Amino acid sequence: MSINYSEKIPNNVDLSSNKTLQRALEHWQPGFLNWWSEMGPDESTNYDVYLRTAISVEPKGWAHFDYVKMHDYRWGIFLAPAEPGRKINFGEHLGQPAWQEVPGEYRSTLRRIIVTQGDTEPASVEQQRHLGLTCPSLYDLRNLFQVNVEEGRHLWAMVYLLHAHFGRDGREEGEALLARRSGDADNPRILTAFNEKTPDWLSFFMFTFITDRDGKYQLAALAESGFDPLSRTCRFMLTEEAHHMFVGESGIARIIQRTCDAMKEHKTEDAAKLRGLGVIDLPTLQKYLNFHYSVTSDLYGSEISSNAASFYANGLKGRFEETKLADDHKLHGSEYPYMEVVGNQIVVKHAAALTALNERLRDDWVADVQAGVNRWNRIPEKAGIAFRFTLPHKGFHRKIGLFNEHHISPDGMVLSEADWTRQHTDWLPTEEDRAYVCSLMGRVAEPGKFANWIAPPPRGINNQPADFEYVRFN
Ligand SMILES: [Fe+2]
Ligand SMILES: [Fe+2]
Repeated sequence: MSINYSEKIPNNVDLSSNKTLQRALEHWQPGFLNWWSEMGPDESTNYDVYLRTAISVEPKGWAHFDYVKMHDYRWGIFLAPAEPGRKINFGEHLGQPAWQEVPGEYRSTLRRIIVTQGDTEPASVEQQRHLGLTCPSLYDLRNLFQVNVEEGRHLWAMVYLLHAHFGRDGREEGEALLARRSGDADNPRILTAFNEKTPDWLSFFMFTFITDRDGKYQLAALAESGFDPLSRTCRFMLTEEAHHMFVGESGIARIIQRTCDAMKEHKTEDAAKLRGLGVIDLPTLQKYLNFHYSVTSDLYGSEISSNAASFYANGLKGRFEETKLADDHKLHGSEYPYMEVVGNQIVVKHAAALTALNERLRDDWVADVQAGVNRWNRIPEKAGIAFRFTLPHKGFHRKIGLFNEHHISPDGMVLSEADWTRQHTDWLPTEEDRAYVCSLMGRVAEPGKFANWIAPPPRGINNQPADFEYVRFN
């Protein structure tokens, strides 16, 4: 499964044997590069960036590191190796051979699933395009660009599926993916969280910690798909997603570290004093966590969903680690808990497990986010500081699903409109908080130097030394 880099479009799918598909993708390629020039990282055209590029899709040793101009990054089409004799592992087609072609009756549904996933990839690049101008270090700038080029490649992955399996409709969707713009009033990206701004590096790290983790769970569920090309594409994308989440988790950890160091050095927990010292106080970090967690939680959709049920029953989208679960893989007669507001109480109810699959995937993601938060909490713990980060209640600040019409506090109390209005500024970033965080954002671009509000990383990318020149500006 080595990757052929001698072709115009690097690939491991023997693209040259399918001239029609190759031509269609070569036709799409200039449009993609135009989109990158227009909407990719601001002012980055001349930079040489120390990036990793996939050289093989095998689990070990797929990355190669070198200086690359992002515009010349070898975006291409990489699928995980085929599993010989792979079967459909869940739903009503359980046990049948996995589909190599799109089944006619699921064509429009599969296309929608692929387009919705594909749309998030360029959206995040657009959301993050100004961040390079305020990077806290060359190390961080390089990590941002690595995430950006890989999200660009994820778009390629989805467009390949559209072109290879959905004919003319697929090609039109490929064009539309380059035409929508994050936050645009007339032609926005499909999902709300991908139309939010990522205005500062704290938001970027929260986004890659929390929202890229949603990406992980969506891709993992699609990696179970009975449509084998989708499964193989998503399996390779997941290997890249791990680095994005690392960037987020370690980025926030370094901010927490820096703040805890300042708290100890100056023997203070006072937010105003800490802001005077130019670090981000822990309660402000908690507010950003609350915001990104709740907005991303909405991406899983309604707790009870007939769409989710039919995606599963039809073998299109599985559960997280479907094949490791020990049950009938059809969910006949089984139930799953969810929460709902009744009067002014939140009560646990049970629904048919098949209709509660969005909630189940959200719960898998919540557990994973919680594990990361627990790792963050070791930093104040070690420093002898009492503050601990917590995840807000699942119903907090939700716009989609059963909590949409309600105001829920982080600790799970049902609030009146008046109480919410009075208190929500304690829980979500205010204009003032955002202005403060923005005021810290200034470009630090000297090798080995870091902005005052973030600690250096414990080790460099690819074991490079602390003062390594990750980006050359030319
Ligand atoms: Fe992605
Ligand atoms: Fe990602």
